Amino acid sequence: MTALDEELVVVARSTTLEPPLDRGTERVAHLRAVTLAALAEAASFRGAKLGPLEKDERDAPRPSGGWHWSISHTSQGALGLAVASVSRSPVGVDAEVVGRGRPELALHVLSPAERALLATLNEAAAFARAWTAKEAVLKKLGLGLMALSELRLEDAAGDQGVLLRGDTRHAVEWLSVPPFVLAVAGKARERVDWRVDPRLRAGEHDERRRGRSRS
Ligand SMILES: CC(C)(COP(=O)(O)OP(=O)(O)OC[C@H]1O[C@@H](n2cnc3c(N)ncnc32)[C@H](O)[C@@H]1OP(=O)(O)O)[C@@H](O)C(=O)NCCC(=O)NCCS
Repeated sequence: MTALDEELVVVARSTTLEPPLDRGTERVAHLRAVTLAALAEAASFRGAKLGPLEKDERDAPRPSGGWHWSISHTSQGALGLAVASVSRSPVGVDAEVVGRGRPELALHVLSPAERALLATLNEAAAFARAWTAKEAVLKKLGLGLMALSELRLEDAAGDQGVLLRGDTRHAVEWLSVPPFVLAVAGKARERVDWRVDPRLRAGEHDERRRGRSRS
């Protein structure tokens, strides 16, 4: 196994969703195109040659050319975000806007015990971390939201967490790029190489960030 095999590459790209890309099918098509570009970039970093991108009956990506892949896309106002990873082993990525609640799922996402593990964060940031971590693991396993309540956050320290499903532990790593939080689930002990669009890191979107809590 080479050193690179121990490294999980995650690419995050931003995009501007201004008219006519701000709504409806144009918005979806644009975000999808940016996501595919992020996926191609992740494949290139890994030296992966992906074949056709197919999904199974649960919508989970099928391995392509021997590589596992995962994508996520979201947006806040005019700021769109696309995240992708390509790996030799199963991988799941998720990105969400901090502060965008899902009240109907609240109990499954963040129990009081899980909240205690994220005690240093405010409520919105803690919810976003638990939610993205669980979605990343569900995607890694090819499961849908139906399995959400099977996952439990067992440990969290800084940007690293551990989720439990049955007897199996799943490592996750987070990255905070306000107004978003990203999570990736791969193999345990993999170093995560976050390749984030400088615009996201540089806070060009400070205006949108103002007044929001940071995670
Ligand atoms: C996985 C899921 C929670 C992600 O939803 P989301 O946070 O709104 O969206 P994201 O942008 O983060 O992720 C979307 C991507 O996740 C991937 N994905 C969807 N379902 C997946 C699954 N079961 N496993 C792994 N990845 C999945 C797809 O690549 C999808 O991209 P696409 O919409 O461009 O095709 C949600 O799509 C889901 O629950 N899907 C399962 C549906 C299901 O169980 N269907 C059963 C039909 S029998």
